[in-house]
Amino acid sequence: MQPSSRLDRLAPYLFAELERKIREKRAAGVDVISLGIGDPDTPTPQGVIDALASAAADPGTHQYPANRGRQELREAYARFYERRFGVALDPETEIIPALGAKECVFNLNLAFLDPDSVALAADPGYPVYTGGPLLAGAEPVLMPLLPERGFAPDLDAIGGDVARRARIMYLNYPNNPTGAVLPDGLFERAVEFARAHDVLVVHDASYTETTFDGYVAPSFLETPGAKEVGVEAFSLSKGWNMTGWRTAALVGNADAVAAYWKLKTNIDSGMFEAIQLATAAALDAGPPPEMPATYQRRRDLVCNALAEIGVDVTPPRGTIYVWAPVPEGHTSASYCELVLEESGVVVSPGGSYGANGEGFFRISLTVPDERLAEAVERLRESLGG
Ligand SMILES: Cc1ncc(COP(=O)(O)O)c(C=O)c1O
Repeated sequence: MQPSSRLDRLAPYLFAELERKIREKRAAGVDVISLGIGDPDTPTPQGVIDALASAAADPGTHQYPANRGRQELREAYARFYERRFGVALDPETEIIPALGAKECVFNLNLAFLDPDSVALAADPGYPVYTGGPLLAGAEPVLMPLLPERGFAPDLDAIGGDVARRARIMYLNYPNNPTGAVLPDGLFERAVEFARAHDVLVVHDASYTETTFDGYVAPSFLETPGAKEVGVEAFSLSKGWNMTGWRTAALVGNADAVAAYWKLKTNIDSGMFEAIQLATAAALDAGPPPEMPATYQRRRDLVCNALAEIGVDVTPPRGTIYVWAPVPEGHTSASYCELVLEESGVVVSPGGSYGANGEGFFRISLTVPDERLAEAVERLRESLGG
């Protein structure tokens, strides 16, 4: 048996590695607290579960779905985008369901990249922005996200040959893993860049609904000209506590939606229609209103405890993560190993999100407050508190 050499281009997926380590520790009797993956611990809203149950009871939902999605779902996205962002979308041509933002981002690489082309990806960034282009046989070129620039990529630094070969630019605000919110003027600059170099901007809007301190995250599609050059991957995973449901959509530029649709008809057979109808109900109800306050409380718990012991963190105004510096003398990997070994707490090493994530670790806020408080207490010692 010989797996394809394309798999050799990939590092093992970060969370697959972490899950293996957690299993080992738990098997050895350690009470592991995992602040690794960002997977909401609170259940999906009851109204969405009820909508699924009644849709699943209807045999009309049981056959192969169409990739383009049910009219009810596309119309619910259009209503949501109008209400939430003031963005008008045509349900016929500008909206298509995706089996999660991860699937959507990955498949956009297959739909838009050729072997000599480039995808511009953030460093640090969500791993699929680099793994996807590699699997598509193309080249991910990294755009450093630095704290001193508010974690905005410097689009003026993208050189001629790279700009010429670039087909996709990935952006993601509120940002995983840094927790940064949209830097001023970035979306406008991205539209200019995309026009100048004929690049598709893909904005990953996985965290627009998890924001704090009154900050309201915009859609990329609110930016003048955005729909001419870009799309947005909008996911219900984090905002609605629906990671297991695999429900998201690609919205925006009609040609990009059509290309993704054409690709998808050859890859999968769409989303279970009962999930589509439950997603429509979720969009109409809006995200569970208590979640931002829940994450804000947990963010404060973590940031206050870190500040007390002298760790310099900027409290994020969005996402479900705190991005913190590792103590001196450690790499992000050695620190995360140490913390797991000595205190049974799992945090993600910043270096695994890209070279510019080195020196940081990511804490996910997706465990109940008491467990989070205990985890931070256990971290104290390793952080010099
Ligand atoms: C930036 C970003 N995009 C996409 C995803 C995956 O979203 P989904 O569950 O919709 O596939 C994540 C999950 O952590 C993420 O952080």
